[in-house]
Amino acid sequence: MAWGRLYASAFEKVRTRIREIGRVLLAYNTNIDAIHYLDGKDLEERVMRVGLEDVLKYSEELPERVESLPQLLGSILWSVKRGKAAELFVESCSTRFYMKRWGWDELRMGGQVGIMANLLGGVYRVPVIAHVPQLSRLQTGLFKEGPIYVPTVMDGEVKLIHPKEFAGEEESCIHFIYEFPRGFSVLDFEAPRENRFIGAADDYNTTLFIRDEFRENFEEIAESASLAVISGLQALTKENYREPFEIIGEHLEVLNELGIPVHLEFAFTPDEAVRRAILDLLGKFWSVGLNEVELASIMEVMGEKGLAQKLLAHDPVDPIAVTEAMLKLAEKTGIRRIHFHTYGYYLALTDYKGEFVRDALLFAALAAAAKAKLGDVPSINEIIKAMDIPVNERAKPVEDSLMREYKMEKGISEVGGYQLSFIPTKIVAKPKSTVGIGDTISSSAFIGEFALRS
Ligand code: AMP
Ligand code: GLC
Repeated sequence: MAWGRLYASAFEKVRTRIREIGRVLLAYNTNIDAIHYLDGKDLEERVMRVGLEDVLKYSEELPERVESLPQLLGSILWSVKRGKAAELFVESCSTRFYMKRWGWDELRMGGQVGIMANLLGGVYRVPVIAHVPQLSRLQTGLFKEGPIYVPTVMDGEVKLIHPKEFAGEEESCIHFIYEFPRGFSVLDFEAPRENRFIGAADDYNTTLFIRDEFRENFEEIAESASLAVISGLQALTKENYREPFEIIGEHLEVLNELGIPVHLEFAFTPDEAVRRAILDLLGKFWSVGLNEVELASIMEVMGEKGLAQKLLAHDPVDPIAVTEAMLKLAEKTGIRRIHFHTYGYYLALTDYKGEFVRDALLFAALAAAAKAKLGDVPSINEIIKAMDIPVNERAKPVEDSLMREYKMEKGISEVGGYQLSFIPTKIVAKPKSTVGIGDTISSSAFIGEFALRS
């Protein structure tokens, strides 16, 4: 397959049409990411000071939340040991203070909404309306210039302003992101792949706090949008999810009545009750974006334990198992589009047909490569440069298997009445960081698809 040519033509097509899609509404989670690139020696010394035995307990099993230093350091080791991402709420003030003093290398825009707002508004120049739970000066300063708006009420009227124009000073919601590269070693552990542990010192996004001006004027705000992306449900728990879910249900009703397609960015949701509630709500979305761990976690609550295990058993992930899981999810919920991404390839299952679905995936893979390389996507030019990164060889057996099983041609086939679209991605050998790549992929592919439809 001549993927190089398909990449180049998909990019050109999306680039010329991307500004025609209208406004995108982004809700609900925005925060500040304080990125700390871990140093093995420093981490080891800290573990020793806090007490090796206490810390190691949590490297075996993650606590539910972080309430002490052994839990913080143990959770970081848990991620390093497995090369897996994890995120926990940090409750204790003294641990928050410790993380602050430990410091960071970079402050970056965080949260699905914040990351997508900067990419869509700041780089693609697609107007976005973003929900930002707390507008501190630190937070607003992280927004790029461009058509990015937050709703505010002035003299009883809703006005859309750039976050930097927000006059007040609210709290900072800081997530400490402990990043490590593949091969990172500490004590007896060695990271099998690059990843991060996130400690969220944040009382707003973690409970899905929704601002009054957003709640009270949702219909008016939504009316001016053409597309919407919802995210930030992942930190809720069985104790606190009911109220926010009621509001989300109401918002979805408004968006559906207005005929606005809504994408759900499904981040890893540890609480099973919340995952079940998301599953019940999925039929109200047009589209969902997820990775293999997230798809497996949904299969588990659907009672498909065998399939869940299959999804996590191979590297690269078995695409036939992924397709089976996506079909089950689409049939159970009626959702129209499922976008799966993993290290090396993406798949999309849609109840509609056309090459534009695949082309939007190709565009997204270029944006993802730029994000992996630089930690941020500074401009469309950096996305063009990603064209030089070779297509991942590991995806070849995946493509072969899809061609055999579903007679796939040029990345497209028909499976059970749906279209299945596949692309091999570009992999950056030494990524700067890992956080936010998934958001870059999902938002670029979702809006890219609508750009190509317009
Ligand atoms: P998530 O874990 O949901 O944030 O998504 C991470 C995704 O980023 C993976 O599924 C890959 O598709 C992509 N990715 C991870 N590492 C790289 C890399 N080094 N180069 C390009 N894409 C990557
Ligand atoms: C989660 C984290 C946030 C991070 C984002 C990246 O929302 O809470 O800190 O920026 O994921 O995908």
